[in-house]
Amino acid sequence: MTGGENRQIWLQSRPNGIPRASDFGLRTAPIPTLKEGQFLVRNAYLSVDPAMRGWIADKSTYWPRLEVGDTMRAYSVGEVIESRNPRYVPGEKVMGIFGWQDYAAVDEPAVYYKVQDNGLPLSLWLGVLGLNGLTGYFGMTEVCQPKPGETVVVSTAAGSVGSAAGQVARIKGARVVGITGGAEKVQQCLDEFGYDAVIDYKAEPDIDAALKAACPDGIDAYFDNTSGAIHDAVLRQINLHARIAICGTASFASWDPWPEGPRPERHLLVKRATMRGFLTPDFEDKYGRALTDLVTWIQEGKLNYREDMLEGMEAAPGSIETLYSGANSGKLVIRL
Ligand SMILES: NC(=O)c1ccc[n+]([C@@H]2O[C@H](COP(=O)([O-])OP(=O)(O)OC[C@H]3O[C@@H](n4cnc5c(N)ncnc54)[C@H](OP(=O)(O)O)[C@@H]3O)[C@@H](O)[C@H]2O)c1
Repeated sequence: MTGGENRQIWLQSRPNGIPRASDFGLRTAPIPTLKEGQFLVRNAYLSVDPAMRGWIADKSTYWPRLEVGDTMRAYSVGEVIESRNPRYVPGEKVMGIFGWQDYAAVDEPAVYYKVQDNGLPLSLWLGVLGLNGLTGYFGMTEVCQPKPGETVVVSTAAGSVGSAAGQVARIKGARVVGITGGAEKVQQCLDEFGYDAVIDYKAEPDIDAALKAACPDGIDAYFDNTSGAIHDAVLRQINLHARIAICGTASFASWDPWPEGPRPERHLLVKRATMRGFLTPDFEDKYGRALTDLVTWIQEGKLNYREDMLEGMEAAPGSIETLYSGANSGKLVIRL
């Protein structure tokens, strides 16, 4: 495709802590020309994820750090409109790491998967059928491994990952207790996501007492999205052979200096518990089975989801800040 403009959100300054709108700029570049093996994707929806903070942090975590001047790395979903790769034909929809931009010249490894044509909205492939739903699915099925009748606790319970994790636990027969911030989110967890009990950590003066009341039989598995004080309180009430999935650290305002807190070893030792960190791409070979389950549960009405839709490229720079403020209600997505 020749001619035309490609709007891009680029990293203008490196934040320490939560990225703000002022850390990003909007620029216009030509639509890229394709090399052999590449294909051109026109993005339809851009994702906003807590992980983006790690990708641009000074001490980057598990992926190469983005440099000032780079186009912001992001998950997105879009349509192949031109191709020099026989495995990707115009008209196909794909989800992958295509950046906060209108168009991307894509090499095959950047693709997570082709979008199934099953009538579900395209944006869901960034949320409940994207990284977030898969994260809830794998953290729950592979790490927490709930058995019927067990008590499972999930933090950021109303969020995109948390709501999927909580519902997977319920589908597996567990009793599920959510932890979230604010009365509105508590109500969503009860009404839409089927939690058995929910704790509002912002309103609750004593998290230990609230957990004790909500989990009278103790805690068999914990899906941890926050770390910090919530994690510490849960650990004090785990049962023998509890499983703890370390999925995210949303409560850490900054990683420099490194946050400190109570030591977990004694709880893990005495309760012979397992605490395991995971990244969803660890389970790439199982994406097919997971997506089949998630699609089926949505179609059967067993798995609910929420989307919080922002409009246009201009909404991108301030969106990570919105996510960390907790102001979003469901998966934060930008519609182009
Ligand atoms: N391991 C992986 O492969 C993987 C993949 C994707 C995501 N994740 C992690 O999963 C978690 C959820 O991601 P998401 O995309 O679904 O985001 P989300 O839950 O929709 O949004 C983040 C939530 O974090 C909570 N939060 C913010 N500051 C907090 C604080 N100081 N203390 C406690 N909670 C706080 C807020 O919920 P409340 O309003 O309830 O406080 C906010 O809505 C994140 O930690 C993310 O890093 C991990």
